[in-house]
Amino acid sequence: MKLQFKKTSEEARKAMCQAAVNIDHASQRGFEEIKLAQDQISKFTNHDHVKIVNSGNSAILGIMSAFKGRIMIPDQGGWIGFKNIAEFLGLKTTEVQTRLGILDPEIVANAIDNYNPEALFITSFAGYIAEQPVKELYEVCIDSGVFLVEDASGGIGDRKNHVGNGEHAHVIVASTGSPKIVNVGNGGFISTNQDEIFKRNKTILKILKADPITCSGISVEIKNAPSILSKTITACDFVKKEFKSAIYPDKRGITVAIKTDEPWKLGYLLRKRLNIEGRSMITVCPRYERVMADAVCLEIKNLDISCLENDHLSRIIQITIEEMDNVSI
Ligand SMILES: Cc1ncc(COP(=O)(O)O)c(C=O)c1O
Repeated sequence: MKLQFKKTSEEARKAMCQAAVNIDHASQRGFEEIKLAQDQISKFTNHDHVKIVNSGNSAILGIMSAFKGRIMIPDQGGWIGFKNIAEFLGLKTTEVQTRLGILDPEIVANAIDNYNPEALFITSFAGYIAEQPVKELYEVCIDSGVFLVEDASGGIGDRKNHVGNGEHAHVIVASTGSPKIVNVGNGGFISTNQDEIFKRNKTILKILKADPITCSGISVEIKNAPSILSKTITACDFVKKEFKSAIYPDKRGITVAIKTDEPWKLGYLLRKRLNIEGRSMITVCPRYERVMADAVCLEIKNLDISCLENDHLSRIIQITIEEMDNVSI
């Protein structure tokens, strides 16, 4: 079995080549490419205003720069950049208690009362493992005048509209780097309906802006997001049902986390056997970006779409079971 790392589609790569050939820095400065990508992103996030930047972390830096008050984040299953960038900007952060990454809207409401944050930063899927109750969290944020910022790097193109949907988030940020759902290899974006927020951080957004080539890639690759996201979720469901110790087996996710008493040993053995073109599809936990429990994660989201068929997945399951048996001997 040969596993392939997630690839940018051929159409998107061609569009980027064409943009590089067409570019006329003196007259156009890539305005057309930027506008087209902004319009495409708007269609997906249901937000009217979009800024395209050079990475997902730039998107977080861009939006956090608009805040002066406290930032609230989950105590696990968030993105490490939330903490690091807040610290870089000198913003205070509060970690809200979760159940293995999933936020409880009632606990969030109490934490907001106690700490009075300006914004809550979450990812669409806690640790990429399980869907956050984004709509319920948005309602809590609306009631208490807090900005909800959803990092939808793993959640663009949700056909159910539960995640990555601007109707349930004041701001959506995403990475379009590799390996993401909009898999251009570079770039990121911020979208919102409250464009006054972009006026607060104009300078930094100018500094972080994406090049027109990346924008051309996004315009094309984002059209594949619904199919890539739904196939990845279906593949995770297929894998999860084979493991009694899977975390959140009934929730949608794009990574499969399996509890184990020997995460380092199992992770080491699986890395040797489940290698995707020299890159890893295994994450060992406890880890803030996934889950703070002893577990290994099978990063199904890193696989190319061509490897999400049942025969590849069955082989991944078989190898994982074999190595789980080996560590328990
Ligand atoms: C959820 C999430 N947000 C943001 C980022 C940062 O994206 P980038 O590498 O484009 O800066 C990542 C990177 O893996 C991520 O997983």
